[in-house]
Amino acid sequence: MTLHARLAELATLGATPGGIDRGLFTAAERAARERFVAWARDDGLTVEQDRAGNVFARLGERNVPPVQCGSHLDTVRDGGAYDGAYGVIGGLEALRTIAASGERPARPLEVVAWAGEEGSRFPLGCLGSSVYAGLTAFGEVETLVGDDGETFASALHGPHGLLEGVYVRDSFPPPAAYVELHIEQGPVMEHQGARLGVVSAIAGQRRFRVVVDGVAGHAGTVPMGARADALCAASEIVLAVERAATDAGETVGTVGHLLVEPNQTNIVPGRVVFRLDLRSVDDLRIAAAEAEIRARTDEIAVKRGVGVSIEALEVRSAVPMETRMRLLVRAACVERDPHAITIVSGAGHDAMCVAHVAPTAMIFVPSIGGRSHVGDERTAPADLELGVDALAATLLAAAASGIGSEPAHGAS
Ligand code: GLV
Ligand code: MN
Ligand code: MN
Repeated sequence: MTLHARLAELATLGATPGGIDRGLFTAAERAARERFVAWARDDGLTVEQDRAGNVFARLGERNVPPVQCGSHLDTVRDGGAYDGAYGVIGGLEALRTIAASGERPARPLEVVAWAGEEGSRFPLGCLGSSVYAGLTAFGEVETLVGDDGETFASALHGPHGLLEGVYVRDSFPPPAAYVELHIEQGPVMEHQGARLGVVSAIAGQRRFRVVVDGVAGHAGTVPMGARADALCAASEIVLAVERAATDAGETVGTVGHLLVEPNQTNIVPGRVVFRLDLRSVDDLRIAAAEAEIRARTDEIAVKRGVGVSIEALEVRSAVPMETRMRLLVRAACVERDPHAITIVSGAGHDAMCVAHVAPTAMIFVPSIGGRSHVGDERTAPADLELGVDALAATLLAAAASGIGSEPAHGAS
């Protein structure tokens, strides 16, 4: 089946010993966008891109708001083959089967490969969809600096940025509706024996950059009592994050990115820069955890004689899925899987942004062992196919419904 062959081919792009590495506007990520364009054109779709690097593949008329689906082709470092790629390639497969069936959808259908969902190169998640939905100004994104020191603007116009031979459109009207197909990335569906999941809401998330400034010094000569060790202070803050998230309940807090300077065996660490990721479907719990972390950090800074600054990089509220779209997803899922469940998404998705400009819903398929953001991410092939089938049914149902006929609200 084309779905599996295409996913397997994509998985070779950016393959590392530990998984897949496709940061936005790297050679591997560009190769993935190029494959997407080639496959979409093979399938008879019209392809365009926007100035943020999002790529749109359409079945049907250009000037009517489409029913849209999609996800992302970038990955986290050492990521898996399905997070994002499944929603994009599954979207192509859904449109291919709809076109082959001879069915004429009541609206154009579109698959979008959103640029830079993971925030794994530039410090903003859902980058392309956030610009598309008007949540982040393009000018702001242009100045973002990647982990390798290159700005977004430079990478966009560099050899791995915008695609040649693909029309760059400067404005896309919002879609009539949006539905994103994705792997669950957790263990809930597998535990409950569900093959399809109807997402009820996507957790809110806040990301911060924390800088701890201590005093570097000789590891052999500075007495323990005379140190302002930035890593010791950062370690206490990391543990305070764990405690605050636990105490807030139904909240997760993670410090997964940490840089120590000068990172030498025989030097007391002078500076630590780390990123904090806080999430919950209840925004009040995130706020409570953040307040607790800030208070504890102030105490730790005084106690250890270090300076600490906390800068918010990204703040996204929890997003409920739109009722009518969710009902269409539910009907498609329950018809195909009597054990389909309703489920909250702890992971972030481009749907969080598109939901600001269009009625939005999501479909999940199970992740074997709940594994994701790791190289051994897996979903049973039959479940991947069932998800695509549910997506195709939802796209057709949404196109046939009156959803999106209301006056539009503005995407860029
Ligand atoms: C993206 O996958 C995220 O949830 O961080
Ligand atoms: Mn994803
Ligand atoms: Mn991800």
